[in-house]
Amino acid sequence: MKISTYAAAIAAALCLSTAALGETQQPPRDSALYEQLGGKSGIRKFTHRFLEIVLADDRIKSKFDDANIDRLEGLLAEQFCDLSGGPCQYSGKDMHAAHKGMGINTAEFNALAEDLQIAMSEAGVSSRASNRLISKLAPMYHDVVTK
Ligand code: HEM
Repeated sequence: MKISTYAAAIAAALCLSTAALGETQQPPRDSALYEQLGGKSGIRKFTHRFLEIVLADDRIKSKFDDANIDRLEGLLAEQFCDLSGGPCQYSGKDMHAAHKGMGINTAEFNALAEDLQIAMSEAGVSSRASNRLISKLAPMYHDVVTK
């Protein structure tokens, strides 16, 4: 067999094996942060507590008067799982559409981030991992804060 024929055979075999595994050409996700957050059950737990803290926080609770809290909790957990490299795909609205017209200001954004950090700390998430998740949310500031 000629070298070019070998190369074609190897390429075909590789292609077949990745297709059989249902893999794409994308590099594997780095799930280290997801693991540090406690995986799906850890994320569910601190997201639930996060919303309890938010709904008791006089600085921002009124913003959630008309919210569907159960739905929001599910979407937030899904978003945190996705952002941290876990096996989830966020299925909610994009951050601009989700917060349009709410008139959220910087102080309210910071209050929410603080509440999330408290919830993670209570759940035993390390401050390093907590800071990493917060740093993934920080770029959303421009879509969320409109006031
Ligand atoms: C980085 C910061 C934030 C993230 C990651 C975030 C995430 C989300 C997500 C995933 C949703 C659901 C989207 C959907 O309906 O499909 C949502 C909705 C919402 N968010 Fe945020 N949010 C952030 C900041 C804030 C802030 C600062 C406030 C108010 C103080 C806020 C108030 C709300 C409200 C009221 C809803 C609508 C809930 C409903 O209609 O049921 N969010 N947010």
